[in-house]
Amino acid sequence: MDSRFYITTPIYYVNDRPHIGHAYTTFAADALARWRRARDENVLFTTGVDENSQKTVDAAAKTGEDLRAYTDRLAELWESTWKQLGISNTDFIRTTEDRHTAVVNDIWTRIDAAGDLYRSRYEGWYCKGHEAFLSEDELTPDGLCPDHRVKPELVSEENYFFRLSKYRQPLLDFYAAHADFVAPANRFREVAAFVEAGLEDISFSRERKEGRAEWGIPVPGDSHQAIYVWADALVNYISAIGLEGWEEHPADVHAVGKDILRFHAVIWPAMLMSAGLPLPGQVIANGFLTVDGVKMSKSLGNGVDPLDLAARYGGGAAGIDAVRYFLLREVPYGQDGDFSEAKMKERYNGDLANGLGNFAARVLALAEKETAARGFLAPPISGADREFANVLADLERAVDAKMGELRFHDALASVWAAIAFGDRYVNEKKAWEIADDAARNETLFNLVTLLSGIATVLVPFLPGTAQKIAYAIERSGDGTLKARKIEALFPRMAQ
Ligand code: MSP
Repeated sequence: MDSRFYITTPIYYVNDRPHIGHAYTTFAADALARWRRARDENVLFTTGVDENSQKTVDAAAKTGEDLRAYTDRLAELWESTWKQLGISNTDFIRTTEDRHTAVVNDIWTRIDAAGDLYRSRYEGWYCKGHEAFLSEDELTPDGLCPDHRVKPELVSEENYFFRLSKYRQPLLDFYAAHADFVAPANRFREVAAFVEAGLEDISFSRERKEGRAEWGIPVPGDSHQAIYVWADALVNYISAIGLEGWEEHPADVHAVGKDILRFHAVIWPAMLMSAGLPLPGQVIANGFLTVDGVKMSKSLGNGVDPLDLAARYGGGAAGIDAVRYFLLREVPYGQDGDFSEAKMKERYNGDLANGLGNFAARVLALAEKETAARGFLAPPISGADREFANVLADLERAVDAKMGELRFHDALASVWAAIAFGDRYVNEKKAWEIADDAARNETLFNLVTLLSGIATVLVPFLPGTAQKIAYAIERSGDGTLKARKIEALFPRMAQ
């Protein structure tokens, strides 16, 4: 059986620093990657940066840095941010790498050979401030650039066009045969309706002239044109594993934000059909995060830096897990959500410090005492407490089912229900004052088993915390357990 699993994040533009919106998409993909790995799948998980954009040129010009030096610096910033956040990606793609350029050339050549590229005149509104074309619907009602408040220039140039219109029916047929191709389902309906309404061919290149499209990958055989940044960027998913790798096993999941779903669920599959290559298994789209109800934007400077945020919640693995927890617990996947310090603190103190942290501390402290007195905790002879055994088995099943449906928030709610059960169990049994050795041993054995099971299902969500708990519990070949106390997992934060 092919146990490979290939998952990707978008490749992010280097005109900006990573904020929690980007981190949200990356954490969701990371949770899925870790979940698959825990099921012994051989996971390939890629992320990276999209460099061949006019935005890069503009951003570099603003800093006054050399374009190359700027791009290298930003690529390094993105890569090291993911590393510091503990993202388990197995590769990092830059679109200025040779391995990428080579595959982009191959794909372009295949699409061309299929007869799907033709030259035509492109007319559009060119905004000098943006150094980019704006579509009619991006303009204000009186025809101005919404950011620069000036009337863009009507530019007309020859470009290569991709025959997207030809793929309307093949796409609809493909969607009909793959009911899970886009998730959540409501987004799939939107995509299908969009395609149903008819597709227009799209400009797939830009004329290279001074100040515009000098940067980017030249069209094979026509150095006067640069490949349109999206036609270049989407190919990164193949560059990471090579054409043969993709033919053998294309991506299972592309995790993206809802803003770029059409590129992934319409244009990308059409490009692959044209190039005669297999299609990805699924495109999943998260909703958008606001901060205190306001859209994060570079000009407002209200983007929350995920590393700063983690540092404010204790730093290290605990701080990172707190951020991951908040994002995956607070926002049902696919829906828009809002971040605020107040909500984050509430989740942190309520769910992490008082919930998981307190439960782990209690169980491990009691178990350590027992381990110190008797050497170990023995499995109960009487046969485990039925209710207790069911809780753990149900939890594992529930988490698996909910992960499969991308209901991260629900999977976490199930884990917290098991923690609440554990808390009740400690209190009802009065685990700290049971006089009978066998009964006390059994209760503590059960509690440590529950905590260990909770840590296991938390691996995709709170990897650092799960590891700390796992390290505190030692299981021997004969089924006995030893446990030791650990430092507070999530020290309570002042209100
Ligand atoms: N470079 C393209 C993607 C090319 S993929 C072949 C791009 N880059 S981006 O830097 O703008 O990042 C877009 C992605 O970041 C979104 O699709 C989304 O996944 C994530 N997010 C950016 N801001 C976000 C929020 N405010 N909220 C949630 N996700 C956000 O588009």
